[in-house]
Amino acid sequence: MRTFGVSAAAILVVGMLAVVVYAMQHEATADKGRMLFNDTKLGTNGKSCNDCHKDGAGLEKAGVRKDLETMVNACITKALNGKSLKTSSAEMQSLVLYIKGLGSEKKPSGKKVRSDVEMAVGISRQ
Ligand code: HEC
Repeated sequence: MRTFGVSAAAILVVGMLAVVVYAMQHEATADKGRMLFNDTKLGTNGKSCNDCHKDGAGLEKAGVRKDLETMVNACITKALNGKSLKTSSAEMQSLVLYIKGLGSEKKPSGKKVRSDVEMAVGISRQ
């Protein structure tokens, strides 16, 4: 009976670990998006997104697009000769998070610096 309890607990722990590892692998994050963005594995011609959009340059405003996934897939299939990703996939959602982050990363800090300067100098933009 005791052995049964111990093995049941062991199985439970291993099962929980497996679930956590699975969730971590399938969770979409901006970090994973950045890695994919720099990875040539999305395509077949040895290029990555970063070859054309260096560090996301030019995509800062793309995050608000309703057809963002379509644009990403268009670039994957046309620019990288790759296979389009499912919208719900962790890969696509990670890329979307990374691209959306490009815009928000710059805006708040840029604004803050500017309003600090405005306060210090006592000017306001009209
Ligand atoms: C061979 C060059 C090339 C590669 C590689 C490439 N793109 Fe593009 N991408 C373009 C061009 C050209 C456009 C259209 C012009 C523009 O908006 O800059 C574009 C447009 C986009 C847009 C829409 C931009 C906007 O202003 O709304 C997104 C989003 C995008 N690409 C994401 C990606 C992603 C993600 C990858 C990698 C999977 C990728 N691109 C790979 C050339 C490329």
